[in-house]
Amino acid sequence: MTTNEVLIFDTTLRDGEQSPGATMTHAEKLEIAELLDEMGVDIIEAGFPIASEGDFKAVTEISQRSKRATICGLARANYKDIDRCWEAVKHAKSPRIHTFIGTSELHRAIPNLTMDEMAVRIHDTVTHARNLCDNVQWSPMDATRTEWDYLCRVVEIAIKAGATTINIPDTVGYTAPVESANLIRRLISTVPGANDVIFATHCHNDLGLATANSLAAVEGGARQIECTINGLGERAGNTALEEVVMALKVRADIMPYTTHIDTTKIMNISRRVAAVSGFAVQFNKAIVGKNAFAHESGIHQDGMLKNKDTFEIMRPESVGLAGTSLPLGKHSGRAALRAKLAELGFDMADNQLKDVFVRFKELADRKKEVYDDDLIALVHQHDGQEDRVRLKSLRVVCGTEGPQSADMALEVDGVVVETTATGDGPVDATFNAVKALVDHSARLQLYQVSAVTEGTDAQATVSVRMEEDGRIATGQSADTDTVVASAKAYINALNRLMVRREQSQPGYDTKGVSYKDT
Ligand code: KIV
Ligand code: ZN
Repeated sequence: MTTNEVLIFDTTLRDGEQSPGATMTHAEKLEIAELLDEMGVDIIEAGFPIASEGDFKAVTEISQRSKRATICGLARANYKDIDRCWEAVKHAKSPRIHTFIGTSELHRAIPNLTMDEMAVRIHDTVTHARNLCDNVQWSPMDATRTEWDYLCRVVEIAIKAGATTINIPDTVGYTAPVESANLIRRLISTVPGANDVIFATHCHNDLGLATANSLAAVEGGARQIECTINGLGERAGNTALEEVVMALKVRADIMPYTTHIDTTKIMNISRRVAAVSGFAVQFNKAIVGKNAFAHESGIHQDGMLKNKDTFEIMRPESVGLAGTSLPLGKHSGRAALRAKLAELGFDMADNQLKDVFVRFKELADRKKEVYDDDLIALVHQHDGQEDRVRLKSLRVVCGTEGPQSADMALEVDGVVVETTATGDGPVDATFNAVKALVDHSARLQLYQVSAVTEGTDAQATVSVRMEEDGRIATGQSADTDTVVASAKAYINALNRLMVRREQSQPGYDTKGVSYKDT
């Protein structure tokens, strides 16, 4: 690696998936890992293998399938976690164990270890990890609030014990850019052996500074940025991959660092992560928001027509946004659909195209013009293959002459069940019908509708978030019928809750796993 190369470490599947409600299914995790690998991410943190059977299985399979990227798993500072992590990542062409412990005074109090006891623990666990794997990353959690002398001491111990990457997390999103740069710079110049390892930066976005702090850390000497797609993650999230990568690309004049990321793949993976995590991207989000390349005001539009550089610092194509083109309609054939999907960055196998074509025809029958955003929603529509509950049919009665009711048929574990329910409006009646057919105590926390495109025949995208016994799941769906989209989104969330229930049965649970040692 040359000194100006910055490695991109993506933790969407670990730190990102850890945020409440962002649970992904096994198939979705495999798909996201494949997209990350294809886009050139150097290290994929695929999960926390000890946390649940589901996490273990996902990290194992992602390791088996990895093509180019190093596959990393997370482990707390104990042998059991580290062994389990190794069992999962050892299948990768390039495996990595990432072990961590909270080193600040507040975090040391959790396992109730003295500074000396923790130092011994770090030595022993990093040595153990290194005996299993040549590639070991060590993180002092809450590094930015750890006493300076102690931080230097434990980083030195980890390096001597064989860590090859030292990650400096700003766990609570507390640091500021100038501090972030100085901390890495000082560590590299102070700690013996620091020049033989790679320093990484891992920032949370509580003060909205994660991108700035990560870039500052690179200025200070970090050569690995830890980040997630769309900035997904605990609380206000992690550093957004698309932001740091595009900042380094667009401002190479003052930040002369390169990454291996194919930036034209950014939009596709961003949309996919939004769809599977249920965390929609805000419209004005940098790089991937719907408005990031929109020019609405007259002055801006006029300037853009004369010279794109007037208001554009990067081209939409550079992040994989196709220019606007003519919509498809019900007479468009398979070849036109394939060409359009390729333009949008979807490289479809024949059987996938066949499936999308059927759904496209159904949509085109109901909607005169099928726009790019309609197609993207269609491709990202959850196929429901693995779902325990599926919608068979729905008929609602609504309007000024009540009562509003919903006749519904569902397939639950292969058996068709039917009911009629009433409610305060068609959506309430529909949700009541699902409740009557599938016994659950989940509470609806959020119900959100937005239009995919303009016009009264536009598809509605519905997002719901549900909570049951502290577990949260989100669901999404799109349809030209808002009530059908609502029913499918609710059922989607319910299926995810069921997966979470099953995954968390035998002991651990990704969201519930405590950082406190066992
Ligand atoms: O934010 C954090 O400190 C983490 C560690 C587990 C690296 O995610
Ligand atoms: Zn984190």
